Amino acid sequence: MISFQLNGQRVDADVPADMPLLWVVRDHFKLKGSKFGCGMGLCGACSMLVDGQSTRTCILPVAAVANRAVTTIEGLADKDSQQLSTLQQAWVAHSVPQCGYCQSGQLISATALLNSNPAPSDADIDNAMQGNLCRCGTYPRIKQAIKAAAE
Ligand code: FES
Repeated sequence: MISFQLNGQRVDADVPADMPLLWVVRDHFKLKGSKFGCGMGLCGACSMLVDGQSTRTCILPVAAVANRAVTTIEGLADKDSQQLSTLQQAWVAHSVPQCGYCQSGQLISATALLNSNPAPSDADIDNAMQGNLCRCGTYPRIKQAIKAAAE
């Protein structure tokens, strides 16, 4: 049994310790916002916050998050009001997604960036987001939305 915080709630997962966190969140807890892309830690589609750090969860055994805090795209909105985060609102305002598949991972990495650096430079954004791939090429709009949310 592995216990951790999932979007602010303590959860217990009766799953093999080496099962990737992405599988546990999607299949066991039925939160489907985090996506499976490459399965090799290369694309960022599966990103979740683990203790505030953007983390690839397709290659992270669930045992590694025991007693730690995991936040998925489902946990970014305000818990009480369900109002989207400032960053999510900027994503909507700038019509960032195209196909959308990578976007939960993009939002997770952008959230981690703004939490640690509320006023990032272009270079900071490029550096923080370089591991999240988008085959539709939404990178310019991602950058615009991050800048708008940071203002
Ligand atoms: Fe995890 Fe690509 S699915 S990095």
